[in-house]
Amino acid sequence: MDGRDLVRSVKAVGSVGAAQGLRTVRSAWRRRRADAAALPRPEAERARVPGCVTEVEPGPGGGIVRFGRSELRIFVAVNGAVFWGWDGAGPEPSYALAGGCPEPDPRVVLEPDTAGGWRVVAERVTVGVSRHGAVEVRTPGGVTLRRELPPRWWEPPGGGAARWVQRSEVAADARFFGLGGRASGPRLRDGTYRLWNTDPQVAFRPGDDPLYLTMPVQVVVADAGTHLVFHDNTWDGTVTLREGAEGAGSGHDRAGASVLRMDGGPLRCWVMVGTPARVLLTWASLTGAPAVPPAWALGHHHARWGFGTEEEVRRIVTGYQERDLPLDAVHLDIDHYDEHQVFTVDRDRFPKLPVLAEELRRDGIRLVSIVDPAVKAAPGNAVYDGGTARDAFVRDAGGRVVRGVVWPGEAVFPDFTHPRVREWWGGLYEERLGQGFSGFWHDMNEPTSFTAFGEPTLPRSARHHLEGRGGDHREAHNVYALCMARAGYEGLRALVPGERPFVFSRSGWAGMQRYGGTWSGDVATDWSGLRASLALVLGLGLCGVPYSGPDVGGFDGSPSPELYLRWFQLGAYLPLFRTHASLRAGRREPWEFGPEVLEHARAALVERRRLLPYFVTLAHLARRTGAPYVRPVWWPAPEDRALRDCEDAFLLGDCLLVAPVLDEGAGRRAVRLPRGRWYDTVTERAYEGPARVVVDAPLSRIPVFVRAGAVLPVRGDDGGLELEVWAPAAGRSGGGLVVPDAGDGWEEPDIERYAVRWQGPDLVVEREGEEGPAEPGRPVRVRGLAAGRGQA
Ligand code: GLC
Repeated sequence: MDGRDLVRSVKAVGSVGAAQGLRTVRSAWRRRRADAAALPRPEAERARVPGCVTEVEPGPGGGIVRFGRSELRIFVAVNGAVFWGWDGAGPEPSYALAGGCPEPDPRVVLEPDTAGGWRVVAERVTVGVSRHGAVEVRTPGGVTLRRELPPRWWEPPGGGAARWVQRSEVAADARFFGLGGRASGPRLRDGTYRLWNTDPQVAFRPGDDPLYLTMPVQVVVADAGTHLVFHDNTWDGTVTLREGAEGAGSGHDRAGASVLRMDGGPLRCWVMVGTPARVLLTWASLTGAPAVPPAWALGHHHARWGFGTEEEVRRIVTGYQERDLPLDAVHLDIDHYDEHQVFTVDRDRFPKLPVLAEELRRDGIRLVSIVDPAVKAAPGNAVYDGGTARDAFVRDAGGRVVRGVVWPGEAVFPDFTHPRVREWWGGLYEERLGQGFSGFWHDMNEPTSFTAFGEPTLPRSARHHLEGRGGDHREAHNVYALCMARAGYEGLRALVPGERPFVFSRSGWAGMQRYGGTWSGDVATDWSGLRASLALVLGLGLCGVPYSGPDVGGFDGSPSPELYLRWFQLGAYLPLFRTHASLRAGRREPWEFGPEVLEHARAALVERRRLLPYFVTLAHLARRTGAPYVRPVWWPAPEDRALRDCEDAFLLGDCLLVAPVLDEGAGRRAVRLPRGRWYDTVTERAYEGPARVVVDAPLSRIPVFVRAGAVLPVRGDDGGLELEVWAPAAGRSGGGLVVPDAGDGWEEPDIERYAVRWQGPDLVVEREGEEGPAEPGRPVRVRGLAAGRGQA
């Protein structure tokens, strides 16, 4: 236990009280003992590399390349992604893939490459396999995007899980992104990032790693192209990244490097190449389309650990209403449970929850419930008894139910890797629906068990069903939350077939977007926490999870009015816009920071509501294309190096560029604009990109720009959908996609396509239809005209 562990353990113990503190110590010892007895002892290991090619066996979309001491299976799938797996690893079983592995592309064959190697050639990528087992990903033009060196395994002579390491090289100019939610992103600088979902047990800052949601997904952006590489392996591991450097003058380039070390599990990998949009489309076709949240979940949410009573919830809601502050959802944390036990209500303090829910609903406000996986280990507790009767809880290697310590005290953990357990758990949401809840906030599902030292999770030797294959927590840990999300999502679909479930979860893994979104967890209340919250949303989006957002204002402590406001202004442009804070933190209601902050926070809330149709459009487009709502500014131009290094602004869909204020005291900031004309949405002043411009960022607003020619769907004063059209530059045209809200059910709204063009001095806006252009059929408001007309 090092000093940091000590601090954390004191905090963990402090946060659960003295009696629980003792339990955490006991539980940590139990965990150690279990692991020592049940996990294989470290023994001398033998190293292995593939050796030389011996033979090749063609198969659909590729084939098998045999080496002296391993074999590589490689094929191109119909969606254009390339799979390869060593030592006989195939693409399934996989927790990441949605609906199984895509078919191999029958047009692709394994063919001889140079120097005795072999290759598969797909439309957008060629993958070469060298005689010694290096795998090289190249563009159709032959430029290398990534070179994976021959892997190396270390295996116990008597058999058992082999550790392995995969070293890779990328272009000298390449930048790394992804790996799930990383506080020090979005650009992942040199360092080691762990692949093990972890509750840091204190509010995190940049530099704290890992956090709650990790995944072995790297997005690499270089001049030569963008690729996403996914090593489909749920085990513990690390990725060590080192950016390359270009040789100046006559010096040589130093390639960028990524070293992936895994403690076990298959060595298999998917790679996809193309524009960022193409890469994310392929990724979504592999791992599943992002769930579309109901429209209300794209509004403003207010949460707090410790509302404490129904009266307090009413008081807060009235506070919003009296001040004309839009509010769409209120979240109830564990303090509304009976003794912190999930699927219960403290009836003294929340005696008529369904009545409260109904009242709020009439005012357009939904209730969202926290759902923790840990079940209080107490006979008489219905969830515990029900789970025990069904043998639902994780057991250790000796067959005893594993106990940990979470909010309710001593607790047991459902094994969500068992279909029967998922079904049982999914059915429990009926109780929540009966209380009037409309959405679900999964927490503590890394899974977390408080600990006085070591890792705050289950013993690594704990047994899991793993869909019948059987295995231990080393393999199941990282997909625990993913499987819990599946349980909740599928349970809700069965209980309320006509409505799209709204689930978001602290932890998760590749494919999480199928069931819902995530939030950033317990972010520290300071300016570095504000920066980290943007990094997480951008990184997760590139990993295919487009719906997320931070605790606005930070989780702990009390933000200064300025920090609170800047966080609020950023949050208003992120998919999940939620104020939330800890039990012990200061208040987070917009009126608690003085009249000036209240006025500016109101403006942010009103603008968010006005942009709701745009968020609805982005949610539907994410489902159809995999493109995140929040995108790095290099998204349309990954070859632009200055944009690649820009981490303090983002694109919201195709139309908007948001430049939040992330520095204390800043009243102006520099913004790097991609190519084309951009308008400041408030002043309507036009700027021509690519450019770096310095703009005002008064306390009243953060700079937001809109692309010339954009068609932005907004909510009109009467609540209907209107089109805000921004004049294209003279001689240019524009247009955009709009997906109207079709309610909370499963109806697929049609995509509306609009075109914008100049006709002499007039701006014409048309809806594109099967029978040619037509009237837009919706109210249109043109902006940016003063700058637009006549200027080249
Ligand atoms: C965890 C969550 C936080 C929640 C708290 C109590 O710290 O991350 O959001 O408020 O638990 O449930």
